[in-house]
Amino acid sequence: MAKVTGSNFDDGFTQWQDYQQAPWGRLRYRVARANLQHHLPAPPARILDLGGGNGLDTIPLLKLGYTAVIVDFSQEMVAQGQKLAQQEEVSDQLTFKIGDATNVDFEQNKFDIILCHNLLQYVEDITAVLQNIHQSLRPGGIFSFMITNPHTETLAYALRDYDLAAAQENLTKSTKYIETFNTHIQRYTDEELKEMLQACGFTLLEQYGIRAICDFMADNERKFDPDFYEQLEALELAVSNQYPYKLLARFYQFICQK
Ligand SMILES: C[S@@+](CC[C@H](N)C(=O)[O-])C[C@H]1O[C@@H](n2cnc3c(N)ncnc32)[C@H](O)[C@@H]1O
Repeated sequence: MAKVTGSNFDDGFTQWQDYQQAPWGRLRYRVARANLQHHLPAPPARILDLGGGNGLDTIPLLKLGYTAVIVDFSQEMVAQGQKLAQQEEVSDQLTFKIGDATNVDFEQNKFDIILCHNLLQYVEDITAVLQNIHQSLRPGGIFSFMITNPHTETLAYALRDYDLAAAQENLTKSTKYIETFNTHIQRYTDEELKEMLQACGFTLLEQYGIRAICDFMADNERKFDPDFYEQLEALELAVSNQYPYKLLARFYQFICQK
């Protein structure tokens, strides 16, 4: 398998931005932000967003008074994030570092909050990055970790697409091809992830699920209807920490404390 680099994400940026603006992309950021708000310390506090891309999780937080560092190895993601930070007039609270998230060297206990959203499925040694995050977080600090849920794909192939062969095949695959970035991701169950978090010294405060409903609905056109979207968003917000929905959602979001 070819090693993934910043170019994979540079090349996929246009498609990535389309995704972010689509109803399912907007839901992803909206629900993550609502979940985070239950746990974040009040500003001012220092955030590290590892693999933060073009900043859609972090930039709204800066408007509340936090400061942040985004580390990302894609030049294009960073350039677009800088542009957005300027538009939103928060550039003076945000530093971008172009670099490899698997090799960052921050001083210990530096950050009050660390976000790592949809990065770790792309790296080979997930545990090494989690250990590094743990070191960079201050004692009592908050870590928000988001990653794809492999079970949702099986269900979506079957229930949304009626593709039972793909659903069957998906049960035994440990990687998945991501067309937007022309690379494969690793897949982990929530049990595996929770064990890793515990082994690295984190305490799990809450497990959430993001998009437990939207991804099983075949009619994407309806999701663009503002009234329908509003109802869908309210439902997704209501179920994101409820069993069994959170176990079936497109993304797991684990909020942990050091
Ligand atoms: C799927 S995007 C998620 C971006 C952002 N966290 C979000 O959820 O909006 C993955 C991001 O991780 C970055 N990335 C992947 N592997 C990386 C690595 N080893 N070092 C730094 N950045 C990496 C990519 O450039 C991309 O911006």
